[in-house]
Amino acid sequence: MASQEDVFKKLVAHCKEYGFVFPSSEIYDGLGAVYDYGQMGVELKNNIKKYWYDSMTLLHENIVGIDAAIFMHPTTWKASGHVDAFNDPLIDNKDSKKRYRADVLIEEQIAKYEEKIEKECNKAAKKFGDSFDKAMFFETNSRVKEYVTKKENLHTRFAKALNDNDLAELKQIIIDEEIVCPISGTKNWTDVRQFNLMFSTEMGASADGAMKVYLRPETAQGIFVNYLNVQKTGRMKIPFGIAQIGKAFRNEIVARQFVFRMREFEQMEMQFFVKPGTELEWFDKWKQTRLKWHKALGLGDHKYRFHDHDKLAHYANAATDIEFEMPFGFKEVEGIHSRTDFDLSQHSKYSGKKIEYFDPEINQSYTPYVIETSIGVDRMFLSVMAAAYNEEQLENGETRVVLNLPPALAPIKACIMPLVKKDGLPEKAKEIINDLKFDFRCQYDEKDSIGKRYRRQDAIGTPFCITVDHDTLNDNCVTIRHRDTMLQERVSIANLANIINQKVSMKDLFKNQLI
Ligand code: GAP
Repeated sequence: MASQEDVFKKLVAHCKEYGFVFPSSEIYDGLGAVYDYGQMGVELKNNIKKYWYDSMTLLHENIVGIDAAIFMHPTTWKASGHVDAFNDPLIDNKDSKKRYRADVLIEEQIAKYEEKIEKECNKAAKKFGDSFDKAMFFETNSRVKEYVTKKENLHTRFAKALNDNDLAELKQIIIDEEIVCPISGTKNWTDVRQFNLMFSTEMGASADGAMKVYLRPETAQGIFVNYLNVQKTGRMKIPFGIAQIGKAFRNEIVARQFVFRMREFEQMEMQFFVKPGTELEWFDKWKQTRLKWHKALGLGDHKYRFHDHDKLAHYANAATDIEFEMPFGFKEVEGIHSRTDFDLSQHSKYSGKKIEYFDPEINQSYTPYVIETSIGVDRMFLSVMAAAYNEEQLENGETRVVLNLPPALAPIKACIMPLVKKDGLPEKAKEIINDLKFDFRCQYDEKDSIGKRYRRQDAIGTPFCITVDHDTLNDNCVTIRHRDTMLQERVSIANLANIINQKVSMKDLFKNQLI
């Protein structure tokens, strides 16, 4: 069986081969952690965005959208805390000259202990079979006990160093744990320094008049600074939400794992404004609502888990991540945060404007509290692709590579294929496309054998292949082949739109969230 690392490599190669994702400016050897979405990728990405945006704004009457600019007044980022505190602790290896995030090096060390514990457990489970008692094993096996203690001590020490913002202690942990640079293999480390993740540029032509502006590191602030505009012009009553999709930029130190950690990426964020004191109730509601959104896609309920934060940002009073099982382990795809009134209060303080809500029910004004749901489009894209990518062994001994994408997200919904390139079959196939194309993104393919054409469509996740043969000209029926089951059936051309629509419409995905 292929290792998870191999599966991931294959997935990355597949994304490139079939036009989903290309390295940015590849003819110049690419640009670190920046990617372009190709002809298939952009369709899948747009479908993900539509699924998110419509779920927010159609299913919730009290959520509206905006599209704020990427550039914002620089004071925004002072008020939000990003100028002073949006930092990662970095460390360089003096021999390889490679730069790492100190916290990531330590997290990887913790993961190594976890792997060792799991390995011991698997070995023992195999040895003892049905009589294996995991709890007892943890209590009695000296090696496992040692790893658990080491892991727990390291975790405690690490959490304290982060909380205290103690950079010297982070370095000391790296030294004490004998963590080496994966490139040079040495422990020749610099001190740990803080590194601000925001990109900046200058706005304005003249040198003395130019203003330093930032590329936004999150879309959320565009919502906060527009809270009053939307609340007043939309006559919004609390509780209400503002949703937005847009690009964000972070100068990530450790940028790897493909589109998982990029320097230019896209976020789908929603800020939900609530009455103070009700925020934890709303936090729980949004946790469940967002999990349902994920699960409705049918990628496998067991692939999700919550990771509640034990270390909270100073402005948050609850926070959790929705993690998805990627080929490289469970990883954060979405963050849900109870941000209190921090952001609105800060903007009020820095702008000198009153940012409040007059609540007619209690005849009082207050600064609303905020629940934020924030998901990365690119991470969502990666989780969908990772879950969909399958190498299937067929009965005839062949392997087929298929993307079992949720049909509503698939880039192409149907491919129409004339059995042969003559006898009026291409014309008939085009007639069918000309009818379907207003509702569904279709492809036409007349090259190679039908089998090869099926494989090409499987590889991009097309739910339906429709073959036009000689009988079609007489009976107005075609053969429709279903991607996942490979079953074929003869159906009337008049029924095609209905059959496709039933499977690819987002309606069921929306309804599944409401169950
Ligand atoms: N406004 C809150 C916020 O930005 P975050 O946890 O820093 O919170 C939210 O980011 C989501 O954005 C993450 O869960 C992830 O999906 C995505 N994200 C963050 N940094 C990313 C990066 N460098 N590349 C791709 N996606 C990223």
